[in-house]
Amino acid sequence: MKTISAEGGKLLLLVLWLQSVPRGHGCPAMCVCYSEPRPTVACQQQGLPSIPAEIPVHSQRIFLQSNRLTAVRSTSFSSCRNLTVLWLYSNNISHIEAGAFFGLDKLEELDIGENSDLRIISPTAFRGLSRLHTLHLHRCGLSELPMGVFRGLHSLQYLYLQDNHLLTLHDDTFLDQANLTYLFLHNNRIKIVTDHMLRGLTGLDRLLLHQNLVTFVQRRAFHDLGKLTTLFLFHNNLTELSGETMAPLVSLQYLRLNGNQWVCDCRARTLWEWFRRFKGSSSELECHVPLAGKDLKRLKLEELEGCYDSWRLPEDGGYGRARPGETPLRAPVPRCCLQDMDKSSIVSSKGLPNSRQITQHPPKAKENISKTKAVETEQAQNGTHRKHRLNDSPSGALSTLSNSMEPPGLSGELEPSSNPSGNRKACSEGPCLKGHGSVTRAPDLRFIPVVLLALGFC
Ligand SMILES: *[C@@H]1O[C@H](CO)[C@@H](O)[C@H](O)[C@H]1NC(C)=O
Ligand SMILES: *[C@@H]1O[C@H](CO)[C@@H](O)[C@H](O)[C@H]1NC(C)=O
Ligand SMILES: *[C@@H]1O[C@H](CO)[C@@H](O)[C@H](O)[C@H]1NC(C)=O
Ligand SMILES: *[C@@H]1O[C@H](CO)[C@@H](O)[C@H](O)[C@H]1NC(C)=O
Ligand SMILES: *[C@@H]1O[C@H](CO)[C@@H](O)[C@H](O)[C@H]1NC(C)=O
Ligand SMILES: *[C@@H]1O[C@H](CO)[C@@H](O)[C@H](O)[C@H]1NC(C)=O
Repeated sequence: MKTISAEGGKLLLLVLWLQSVPRGHGCPAMCVCYSEPRPTVACQQQGLPSIPAEIPVHSQRIFLQSNRLTAVRSTSFSSCRNLTVLWLYSNNISHIEAGAFFGLDKLEELDIGENSDLRIISPTAFRGLSRLHTLHLHRCGLSELPMGVFRGLHSLQYLYLQDNHLLTLHDDTFLDQANLTYLFLHNNRIKIVTDHMLRGLTGLDRLLLHQNLVTFVQRRAFHDLGKLTTLFLFHNNLTELSGETMAPLVSLQYLRLNGNQWVCDCRARTLWEWFRRFKGSSSELECHVPLAGKDLKRLKLEELEGCYDSWRLPEDGGYGRARPGETPLRAPVPRCCLQDMDKSSIVSSKGLPNSRQITQHPPKAKENISKTKAVETEQAQNGTHRKHRLNDSPSGALSTLSNSMEPPGLSGELEPSSNPSGNRKACSEGPCLKGHGSVTRAPDLRFIPVVLLALGFC
């Protein structure tokens, strides 16, 4: 009896062993190995605490996702020279040894996403992966990417960096990524899109930068993105974006810029003009000030006259301010407020309600307001004295503005029922049409109703 049960035990062990090696030789415990369509080792969702030691060297695909892995050793995959797909996502990897992927020069897809304790990537982690076309690094707790980390990845097409804590990206991080088509950077903490951050991305199709903390996009940031079709910058902290910045995006079709804090004054003018030429589709751009809630794209050019006094925003406004001595993220006094020579021509041509720029894209049902504003702006031309008065005023410009700029019906979409004279009053007494140095403001505001009457509005 004893012998028989011992024999049975051995047999059982043999059966278990055979089960763990379904096909071929040397399949690691807890894994399933198969050879069609390609030699594959599948070890996902096994609660593995570490990468199995005996992965067959001829493996082309290794699935290790959803285990409890904490580290990738330099020897973990070093003999699998034919590896093309490596999935390590949804583990608890906090350390990837230098050289962990060295020599895997056939690797095409590497997924390390959802290892939120990873935090650090070695600058040389991906060296030599010249065939890599997809790299997942999302939700890895990364706050920084080392300089040159993507160097040599000439075949990269899809790069997923979303849901990290990235604060910034070094210049030329993507210099070798001319083949990149998707760059996902959303849900990070990027504050400035710098001139050289996106350099080299000449093939980029989709750039997702939403849900960051972007306050500013430097002027040449999109210079190489002539193939970009999709740009998401929604839910950031943009107050302005110049038309010049957008100009290189000649292939753009889908644009989302909602959920920012747009300042709809003279600073928005070049963007507004860029939208006249833009043929794709875009989200709304809700103005934050001074025409709160209105869609920047749908404003009349006249409504962008003047310079909203951003210095007078309350401290929690969170933008547009810079203490003396501090380097501001953008020019504290907008350039458009300092250059008036070109403005005078715009102002004078604007007196004509049907100037070409306006009729090309007539926003519906706003004729009256725009005419009104045209009059006001002419009134507002000599703002020198007014400016001083506003700056000296103890009551903040914002309170003046918010009291007067949001009469019922003006805070949301602009409706035909909007009261033009309410808007006019707000602008002539508020700071949004503040002077521009050399321009002239008619001293007597009583003039306005007369003009309005003459135009048949009252
Ligand atoms: C790798 O692939 C090549 C060509 O397909 C093959 O000749 C070689 O034997 C493979 N190496 C291993 C270790 O399986
Ligand atoms: C992940 O690893 C860390 C140590 O690196 C440990 O504290 C944590 O509990 C682990 N999390 C899970 C879900 O296993
Ligand atoms: C894009 O990838 C292809 C194939 O992987 C490669 O031959 C080519 O050199 C890459 N292009 C650039 C600009 O690196
Ligand atoms: C920045 O943007 C976020 C999301 O759009 C918003 O919730 C937040 O209030 C903004 N911060 C400031 C300082 O404007
Ligand atoms: C403009 O005002 C005139 C007269 O006050 C009125 O008849 C017309 O409907 C108004 N147009 C719009 C678009 O509000
Ligand atoms: C603006 O007003 C001041 C004082 O009233 C005057 O000296 C100046 O010439 C005016 N500027 C323009 C451009 O009309």
